[in-house]
Amino acid sequence: MTRRPARVRVEPAGIDLPVGAGETVFAAALRTDLTWPTICYGQARCTACALRVVDGHQNLGPPDAVEQGVLRQLASRRGRRSSRDTRLACRLTVTGDVTIEKRGVRANSRNVADAADSADAADSVEVADSADVGPAR
Ligand code: FES
Repeated sequence: MTRRPARVRVEPAGIDLPVGAGETVFAAALRTDLTWPTICYGQARCTACALRVVDGHQNLGPPDAVEQGVLRQLASRRGRRSSRDTRLACRLTVTGDVTIEKRGVRANSRNVADAADSADAADSVEVADSADVGPAR
């Protein structure tokens, strides 16, 4: 039995993004031709991809040491403590459905629904450590 990929609901754009096992949210966004804010092209350096988790925290992959360090720096710059609601899309994996908020995300040439139709493909996506993309395509 094939399990469907997790769905990440991206608000306020109202996009349902299928995310394969082991795939980062950022890599899934690129695969489905979404624009996702970035400067470092998925290198966990710029924090432009940072998102806020609204629901489904139990389905989040744990932050690795690199993400933890970047999030601590981000919180420090903002004069706040780290929040479990803030994650980097370029490091975040999910095991089930999640709702997040990220401004600046939008669909490009391809309809995200098309990507959802090829959901099985998402399960076989190999995840590179660096989901390479350009600045806010
Ligand atoms: S920190 Fe730059 S894309 Fe994630």
